[in-house]
Amino acid sequence: MIRFTLVIMFMIPAFTFADTILFGDSKNGGKLHQTSCTACHDSKVYTRKDRKIRSINGLEGRVELCSINLNTHYTDEQNSDIVKYLNDNYYQFK
Ligand code: HEC
Repeated sequence: MIRFTLVIMFMIPAFTFADTILFGDSKNGGKLHQTSCTACHDSKVYTRKDRKIRSINGLEGRVELCSINLNTHYTDEQNSDIVKYLNDNYYQFK
């Protein structure tokens, strides 16, 4: 029982402070982004001072929305790849 309690004690902080874990493939996301996402805006919208996206959830929502705009019908997996790419290269949300 003591051992079990110790394990739990060490696990809680590990979960609480873990970085956001994104499972996408950044490299593939980069390719998709290159082909589909530069028609209306370039990457400056991700780095401008008053950029709108403030959280990883916001980023996921925006990518989905822009993806729909585009009519590309990317799968959830492809959208995740793009989110990962954008987060790694621009937003860097933890
Ligand atoms: C049909 C035009 C269009 C296409 C194509 C498009 N977007 Fe957008 N995107 C917009 C508009 C409009 C905005 C809002 C700009 C603003 O708020 O000034 C935007 C904003 C964004 C933002 C938020 C930037 C910020 O302020 O932080 C992200 C992220 C984004 N787009 C991602 C994508 C991705 C990923 C793709 C490719 C799947 C894509 N966009 C393709 C029109 C487009």
